Amino acid sequence: MIILAVESSCDETSVALVKDGKEVLSHIVLSQMDIHSIYGGVVPEIASRNHVVHMTRVFEQALEQAKVEIKDIDLVAVTHGPGLIGSLLVGINAATTFAFAHQKPIIGVNHLVGHIYAANIEHEMKFPAVALLVSGGHTELLYMKDHMDIKMLGTTLDDAVGEAYDKVARVLGLSYPGGPIVDKLAAIGEDTYHLPRPFLDKKEHNFSFSGLKSAVINIVHNAEQRKEDIRVNDMCASFQASVLDVLIEKTKHAAESLGAKQIILSGGVAANRGLRSRIFNEIPHFEIIVPSMKYCTDNAAMIGAAAYFQYLKEGAKHNYLISGYSTINFDKLDN
Ligand code: KG4
Ligand code: ZN
Repeated sequence: MIILAVESSCDETSVALVKDGKEVLSHIVLSQMDIHSIYGGVVPEIASRNHVVHMTRVFEQALEQAKVEIKDIDLVAVTHGPGLIGSLLVGINAATTFAFAHQKPIIGVNHLVGHIYAANIEHEMKFPAVALLVSGGHTELLYMKDHMDIKMLGTTLDDAVGEAYDKVARVLGLSYPGGPIVDKLAAIGEDTYHLPRPFLDKKEHNFSFSGLKSAVINIVHNAEQRKEDIRVNDMCASFQASVLDVLIEKTKHAAESLGAKQIILSGGVAANRGLRSRIFNEIPHFEIIVPSMKYCTDNAAMIGAAAYFQYLKEGAKHNYLISGYSTINFDKLDN
C-alpha cells in the first residue's frame, strides 16, 4: 500500500511517500528554522505563509524522488492536529485537493501518533509498550496495548520539555531552537548548579518543567544583578541532568510496573544525545527503540507510517471531510 503523507503542523513543510507503513520511498522536509530563529520562536502567521509558498514544490519533489506514478498511490494522509491552525490548514487543503483531484481516499492523522510511529519505520514495535513522547509542544508518557491502542499515563502540567529547553536557551543568550545547542553544551559542562528534579516521585506519571525553567531564569537574573558570570556549559549540563533524571526515572517505573515488552522514545527531544545515551545505559533490561535523528523532528514519513496502521484499523472514514483540528485525544489508562 503506497501512502502519500503530508505534515505541516508547525514550521516544517513535509511530504513523504511510504510503502506499507515501513518503507520510506521519499521524504522531503523543508525547514523554516532560519526564518523563525530571527524572532526566537515560531511565528504562526509567517509559518502558514511559508507553507503556502513551498507546499506545491515539496509535493512535486516527493513524487519525483519516490519515482511513483500518481495512479499507484493508494491513500493520502495528512496531519490534522494538534498544531498551529493556519499551518495545519495549508497541509489539509493541499492533501484534500490532491486526493479529490486524483480520486484517492484520504485520512487525517494525529501528529502525536505520527511521532510515536516514527519509531516503527526502522524498528518493530512490540506490545505492550510504554512510549515517551517528548517534543516542543508535548511531553506524554503513554501505554500501547497494541497498534493504534494508545492510553495516556501522564502528561506535562505546564511546559513541554522542548519548550523548557528553548526557553532556558533563550535566557542563556543561545539561539533558537535551543534544544540542540543546550544538548551540545551540556556534553562539555558539569552538573554543578544542583537544580530541582520536579515530580521525581515514582508514583506520579505527570511532569512539570516550568519550575525547573524558572529556577534557571532566577539564577541567571540574580547573577546579572550581582554582575557575576553564568557558567553556561555547566548550566546546560545541570538543566539537562535534571530533565533526564525525571524523564528516565518515570519511563523506567512505568515500563516496570506495567510489564512492558518495549520502550518507545520519540519526538523532537528524542534527538537529544544525552537522553539517547542515558536511557540505554540506565534501563538496560528493556528493549528500547528510538527513531533515527531525521525521523525524530517533524516529518511526513512518520505520518505515512502511522496512517498505514490507522487505515488497517478503521479504513478511510474521514474521506474528504477532514476536520481542521485533532486535539490530544488519548484516554487515560484505567487503573
Ligand atoms: O517534534 P518537534 O520537531 O516539534 C514539535 O512537534 O514540537 O520538536 C521540536 C523540539 C524543539 O523544542 C527543539 O528544541 C527540541 O525539539 N529538540 C531538542 C533537540 N533537538 C530538538 N531538545 C533537546 N535536545 C536536542 N538535541
Ligand atoms: Zn512534532
